[in-house]
Amino acid sequence: MNHFLDIHKTSPSDLRAMIDQARAMKDARNNRPKGMADDATPLSGRMIALIFEKPSTRTRVSFDVGARQMGAETMVLSGKEMQLGHGESIADTARVLSRYVDLIMLRTFEEATLLEMAEHATVPVINGLTDSSHPCQIMADIVTYEEHRGPIAGRKFVWSGDGNNVCSSWLHAAGQFGFDLTFTGPETLDPDPKAVAFARSRGSTVEIHRDPLVAAEGADAIVTDTWVSMHDPESARERRHNQLRPYQVNAQMMGEGKPDALFMHCLPAHRNEEATSEVMDGPQSVIFDESENRLHAQKAILRYCLGA
Ligand code: CP
Ligand code: NVA
Repeated sequence: MNHFLDIHKTSPSDLRAMIDQARAMKDARNNRPKGMADDATPLSGRMIALIFEKPSTRTRVSFDVGARQMGAETMVLSGKEMQLGHGESIADTARVLSRYVDLIMLRTFEEATLLEMAEHATVPVINGLTDSSHPCQIMADIVTYEEHRGPIAGRKFVWSGDGNNVCSSWLHAAGQFGFDLTFTGPETLDPDPKAVAFARSRGSTVEIHRDPLVAAEGADAIVTDTWVSMHDPESARERRHNQLRPYQVNAQMMGEGKPDALFMHCLPAHRNEEATSEVMDGPQSVIFDESENRLHAQKAILRYCLGA
């Protein structure tokens, strides 16, 4: 049984196999209607629970559609409406759900909640985002980068802004897929030192620059995310905006990257905050391909977890 809890906890060969399978499955669908099942339905007869303790558009819809395209059935559950939100433990929830369903995808707050679910479930558990990481997103982003620009190994990625959960998964991916990552942002929002250490331990170059234009020089891709994540307190909003404004991805910053550098963002975005609409809608942006590829990457992740 394979959980998919984080990119640094999954072997490079399994990660590569999932990326390649995602691309093959995407190609195989050609122009089929979105609601039509795939030619092969390897998850036929499987039941999948998608649990959300935080809001979601992409993760929720792409998992649901992807599972159905492969023949599975799904149920989308809100943490608040489950006994989980009213005092039942994660461990007991995991034990109970394991009697009904074949796989659990969980979006939650603390990473410890996800790990407890995985420890006590007897079915695979997928990380649909925690305060600490967002591995499904970065698998989709690797599919996206490679379909536009070829192998990601050896490239220079620049992360501008908050060193948050998505940034940590990029650092894990840098280590596992062999690319470099330069972080630029205020010191108080530096990335998780454990994620930086992981990438470096695998031979990736991780640099930190306070000057965003210096950081962006020669980038193959410039990546950002919201300045205030779902787990950040509302009281931090104004301070974060003031700290992060110099790290907005705009035309000047894109101009420091390579001429064919991509602009990436997991979405949802706050237009003209972390990135200008000019960049988001410009020719270097692949943000909606990233959203589309959530579907294909997660189909490969589901097959990996279910051994199908
Ligand atoms: N990128 C992402 O995970 O989006 P949602 O929050 O809409 O799922
Ligand atoms: N960093 C963001 C990502 C949303 C997909 C958050 O956690 O809110």
